[in-house]
Amino acid sequence: NSRVFSLIQPTGKFHIGNYLGAIQSWKTLSETESPGTQYIFGIADLHAITTGVKPAGELRSNRHEAMAGILSCGLNPKKCILFHQSSVPEHAELHWYLTCLTSMGALNRMTQWKSKARQLGDDESDQLKFLEHTKAGLLCYPILQAADILIYRSTHVPVGDDQSQHLEMCRSVAINFNNSYKTNFFPIPQTLLTPSKKILSLRNPLKKMSKSDPDQSSCIYITDAPEVIAKKIRKATTDSVQGPVYFDPEARPGVSNLINILSGVTSQSIEQVVEDLAYVKDHKQFKDHVTDVLVTEFKQQRELFEELMKDGVYLEKVCHEGRDKAREIATKNIEEVRKLIGMD
Ligand code: TYM
Repeated sequence: NSRVFSLIQPTGKFHIGNYLGAIQSWKTLSETESPGTQYIFGIADLHAITTGVKPAGELRSNRHEAMAGILSCGLNPKKCILFHQSSVPEHAELHWYLTCLTSMGALNRMTQWKSKARQLGDDESDQLKFLEHTKAGLLCYPILQAADILIYRSTHVPVGDDQSQHLEMCRSVAINFNNSYKTNFFPIPQTLLTPSKKILSLRNPLKKMSKSDPDQSSCIYITDAPEVIAKKIRKATTDSVQGPVYFDPEARPGVSNLINILSGVTSQSIEQVVEDLAYVKDHKQFKDHVTDVLVTEFKQQRELFEELMKDGVYLEKVCHEGRDKAREIATKNIEEVRKLIGMD
């Protein structure tokens, strides 16, 4: 029996990188009829506080928007468990057991951590300053991620490219636990890389699309109004190559990112997308095409999102049902873990 699991951080509205890197593939997976497979997806709200304190109201509304966001993308609570990570406290308990098995060295090697550490600078005093102020939660972030996955004894984890290393760590944590307690309680989960490769910033196609980018025109939200989408696409960085568009991420990163987005959104291959663009004579025509596709593709989502944001009762019902189903699995597994380590 397989169990497919993944989470997304509640960063407020979702952008097309989140959509193509996660939610779209969750939907596709949970709609394939495969008897014996269970799907668990949710909001990583405990991870959301690793980057600093936010006002309670902001976190609350981000969590709310995130749940409305995944539902508006068509995730069906009858086909998968949908829940908030924090509503299942067993994640935090397992996280502690796993923290006591994981070395600081292994955590220190995580590239996401290293890139944050390097933001201040490379010399020793910069690094000390970083360690002085950075919270331990940020360092331990991948262990919590491992606990999320393992508490359900998940077998498959669909994620984007940027999470591969965290998944690698999850596997070594699982192996470490199994070896330490002479068990094979935890399956070693496999990464299911989402088909859309990394979606890049519209303004700087050498960086990934990210909500925290100060230049908000670099990022298209699935709930953006048509005129906002049109404006952001018009401003998107391309190049000065004349004539028809073609896919070449090295030489034409901006154009290729837009082709990649089209391919993800329409579920067509890159070749197919490029073939359909053969009529395009210049960048303006190309950008109009991208805008049309995005506006049409996200129309329904945007409308559903607005409706869901007004219907607090329905959202709460989905969260409660999801929590109860998730907890049923998690409490059973944590009891086994307690027995294995002698905490029962
Ligand atoms: P998060 O919230 O950053 O991203 C959620 C998912 O979206 C993918 N993604 C992207 N894919 C393509 N292009 C982009 N620009 C882009 N941005 C984000 C990510 O790869 C991811 O799959 N630590 C995780 C959340 C998490 C988790 C877990 C995931 C917590 N516990 C357990 C899986 C299993 C994170 O911050 O993802």
